Amino acid sequence: MHAKKDIPTGVIILLAGYGLVPAGLPEVDPTYLSPTSLVASADGKRLYVAEATAGRVAVVDVACGKVIREVAVACHPSGLALSSDGRWLYVTSAVPEGVVQVIDLDNEAVTDTIHVGHTPVALALAPDGQTLYVCNRFDNNVGIIDLRLGRQSGTVAVPREPVAATITRNGRFLFVANLLPASAANTRHVAASVSVIDTGAARLVKNIELPDGSTNLRGIALSPDGKHAYVTHILSRYHFPTAYIERGWVNTNAMTVIDVPSQRYVNTVLLDDIDRGAANPYGVACTADGKHLVVAHAGTHEVSVIDRAALHARLLSARSARCFASSSTSRSARRFLDAGYCAQDIPNDLTFLAGLRRRVKLQGKGPRGVAVVGPKGYVAEYFSDSVAVVDLGANAREQTTSIPLGPARTMTEIRRGEMAFNDASHALGGWHSCASCHLDDGRANALNWDLLNDGVLNPKNAKSLLLAHATPPAMVTGVRANAEIAVRSGIRYVQFAVAPRETAEAMDAYLKSLKPVASPCLVEGKMSEAAREGEVLFRKAGCTRCHAGPLYTDLARHDVGTGTDDETNTSYDTPTLVEAWRTAPYLHDGRAATIEQVLTTFNPADKHGRTSILGEEEISHLAAYVLTR
Ligand code: HEC
Ligand code: HEC
Repeated sequence: MHAKKDIPTGVIILLAGYGLVPAGLPEVDPTYLSPTSLVASADGKRLYVAEATAGRVAVVDVACGKVIREVAVACHPSGLALSSDGRWLYVTSAVPEGVVQVIDLDNEAVTDTIHVGHTPVALALAPDGQTLYVCNRFDNNVGIIDLRLGRQSGTVAVPREPVAATITRNGRFLFVANLLPASAANTRHVAASVSVIDTGAARLVKNIELPDGSTNLRGIALSPDGKHAYVTHILSRYHFPTAYIERGWVNTNAMTVIDVPSQRYVNTVLLDDIDRGAANPYGVACTADGKHLVVAHAGTHEVSVIDRAALHARLLSARSARCFASSSTSRSARRFLDAGYCAQDIPNDLTFLAGLRRRVKLQGKGPRGVAVVGPKGYVAEYFSDSVAVVDLGANAREQTTSIPLGPARTMTEIRRGEMAFNDASHALGGWHSCASCHLDDGRANALNWDLLNDGVLNPKNAKSLLLAHATPPAMVTGVRANAEIAVRSGIRYVQFAVAPRETAEAMDAYLKSLKPVASPCLVEGKMSEAAREGEVLFRKAGCTRCHAGPLYTDLARHDVGTGTDDETNTSYDTPTLVEAWRTAPYLHDGRAATIEQVLTTFNPADKHGRTSILGEEEISHLAAYVLTR
């Protein structure tokens, strides 16, 4: 059935066994398992759990709640899909030279390894079991794998960083969650979208726009009747200065409902309570009877169990509720006039789920992927190396249990730092973790924020924290002498928390351990001809004067003609260009969606390198070079 493998399985088992974590992933002790996602067999008897840092898939017997086998796979297993007959399990290896492996579950052995794109993280299998779709996160595309041929036969481009996908019952459309917005950050509407792909035509037909401030899309699930899709994400209130965190002033945590047949946005509901955030919504699943939706909250270590029928009834009543107002009534006044719900107010309503949802505290930490079997939810607990079992029934006990996937281990400082970075439970009200704005691996969520370190009303684009400690000073304006100080300011002034010294030190250790990921713009690990031409131009245009040395920064501030702050402060700290391929949008206020724009539209007077001497092709070569760093 599957074409001959071209990576010998033995090599992969060896690599996984020795825990060689590829460049770009946080250096964690490979003895951790880090379960990220899981799937249940159709008969509900088995769970298959991808253990990211262990490089293996655990097979859990649901009835006895124990791991019965472990299958070694390639590094960083992440996305899973199971054939409907339960015979084949497909697993992605989320590394730059990504692969999808095929496991024959009868023999519990890897039988095929299919090369796909850069960092494949999620899968969706067509109902006929012949085509597999893979989210190639950093190639910004969805790969189409023909399983009979055993290869990726095509790709469909999507806006930015696809991380989750689900396919309609009839297999005609694929709904794909993009992690991040793809636009400049200073426009009126900045949000990530859900892409719809027509599988027959292998074509992107639509990007369903989410509300302004939607980022960190993580999970997508279909209702059993196939009529609705549910997408988890953060809904950021990035327009407001971050002076205050309660009642979702900075970040709210949300789920968007999509009507599948019409491919239309229905609405976005907040998963928080008015006085308590439910941070970092991650995996989502629907029970087979359609009664419940289960959402994992990675930041607050809990799940939401939502009564689905009641949710839709409330959404419907909102749609039909008339706003008793005339066209001259102001928007804010209209809200108070309406006794029921106005559909457009729902994304701001922290009471919307009241009475429809149970919040269930988990014993483990860092819940991510979710699967359901009958009346039970199973949740991968990333930092505890366990799977939570949650009773979803109406009379469920609040008590949850956890299935350990391996022996409990003492965490290294780096691992504790990674956990603290992803933890919202120490933030005031549990509203957000560092990962809410810096993603779960310390990068950036592409939004502008008006932090208070440099006064108000001067928003700055979120910075990636890769190399932050190696490139002082910190912050765009350099107001913090180094990243250590910035980390402590983040805890105090962005999370409004008091954390023990060890927590900040562990975060430093974690952030220092981050390694750059190889650029997807490299061709077989090497620069293209255009990029090599660009390297020459990088010197010729004077870029190396400031973007100097191996980290591409002279660690100093310069006025490059991009100033938006007050006249006394139009100099900004030279940013590193390492991983520039993934840090769009660019410049301190995220005004440039592309490197080309940095070098042309936003460099009219040659204050930012001598780019006016370059022709269009040279600009594209220069950009190509920067994108390989
Ligand atoms: C509300 C979104 C948000 C949250 C939450 C957040 N940050 Fe940031 N962070 C930003 C933005 C925006 C910047 C860039 C601002 C600037 O440069 O002026 C930044 C910059 C930084 C920097 C400086 C990086 C550099 O190289 O200059 C560090 C370090 C940092 N954050 C650490 C943290 C830590 C640790 C946490 C959690 C305790 C955290 N942040 C939480 C938005 C956030
Ligand atoms: C005089 C010093 C200086 C020179 C010369 C210079 N840069 Fe910069 N560069 C900066 C500073 C400072 C910023 C930050 C500006 C801002 O945020 O508004 C920056 C920002 C950038 C960014 C955006 C990075 C990000 O993450 O937002 C890119 C890309 C870039 N420079 C590329 C180049 C290229 C290519 C050249 C040569 C044509 C060049 N720079 C020349 C100082 C310089």
